[in-house]
Amino acid sequence: MSSAEVAVQVFKEIETEDFRILNIIEAGMSKHEFVPKDQIQKHSKLPMDRIDFTLGKLNKLGLTYRTKETYNGHTLNYAGYDCLAINALVKADVIVSFGQSLGVGKEADVFDALSPSGRRIAVKFHRLGRISFRQTRRTRGYTREHSTWLFQSHVAAEKEFQAMKLAYENGVSVPEPISQNRHVVAMGMIEGAQLSKYKDIGKPEKVLKEILRNLRKAYLKAHLIHADISEYNIILQPDGHVLIIDWPQAVKTDHANATELLERDIKNVLTYFNRKFNIELAAKEACDYITGKTRSLAF
Ligand SMILES: Nc1ncnc2c1ncn2[C@@H]1O[C@H](COP(=O)(O)OP(=O)(O)OP(=O)(O)O)[C@@H](O)[C@H]1O
Ligand SMILES: [Mg+2]
Repeated sequence: MSSAEVAVQVFKEIETEDFRILNIIEAGMSKHEFVPKDQIQKHSKLPMDRIDFTLGKLNKLGLTYRTKETYNGHTLNYAGYDCLAINALVKADVIVSFGQSLGVGKEADVFDALSPSGRRIAVKFHRLGRISFRQTRRTRGYTREHSTWLFQSHVAAEKEFQAMKLAYENGVSVPEPISQNRHVVAMGMIEGAQLSKYKDIGKPEKVLKEILRNLRKAYLKAHLIHADISEYNIILQPDGHVLIIDWPQAVKTDHANATELLERDIKNVLTYFNRKFNIELAAKEACDYITGKTRSLAF
């Protein structure tokens, strides 16, 4: 079970006092690898027996990890961090319930959820370092690295949300960004599948042109370079139009490596269309079009 599945499953069992303790552990993690129990007590102002009870419960639910033997130090697992973000999104009236998992990947889990008005939305949990985290835990137990990964995932979600908002406001075809909390981004649900999944896409020239038109809009209007474009981050919708997803690594066009990143994005797209659909377009021509040096594509 993924940690988001754990979080979604146990979420209803978590009470106000449990959230209070989870929040205190989260705050303490900026200073401590394992937040000591006396710190938790100091901030919660609850009697020690209640704290012991709650810490035991949170650990049993898989939301926290505690130091062996004395159980004195506590740290959040991804599932605990997930619960804090879910709780904030519920309180902010963004989501009321979760549906099924839409995809568990290397660096993100995406879930289907319902908004208070009954709209289906997608909720993406960033999971940086998940794989290396599992490996270090196996060999070295929990390390400082762990809390750094939670923090990095938070940063990734913030960056993705900001980039998607900019792109969306400037008419780039992306899922509608709805809300963000901690390492989680809520966005409009999309239909269709990754470009990589299709054998036949009808008129590939038209699809390629639409992708490049979106990269041009992102560049000229939102001043953004996606920086991770591939057939896996382009969705082809049932109506034949494309959507560009997965924006945490996007950079501004004045970034020091902007040119290289844009050239790499272009190469990824052109290589794919060349290999799969036999379309030839020079990278230079695509680049001039995207950066506004030319106004249209010749093919
Ligand atoms: N808004 C959405 N609506 C529906 N499904 C989505 C949405 N966003 C993402 N997905 C699904 O989740 C998958 C992973 O999303 P995304 O590419 O944003 O994350 P990622 O960091 O690349 O994760 P992974 O490591 O799995 O590739 C997508 O390929 C898609 O199937
Ligand atoms: Mg992706």
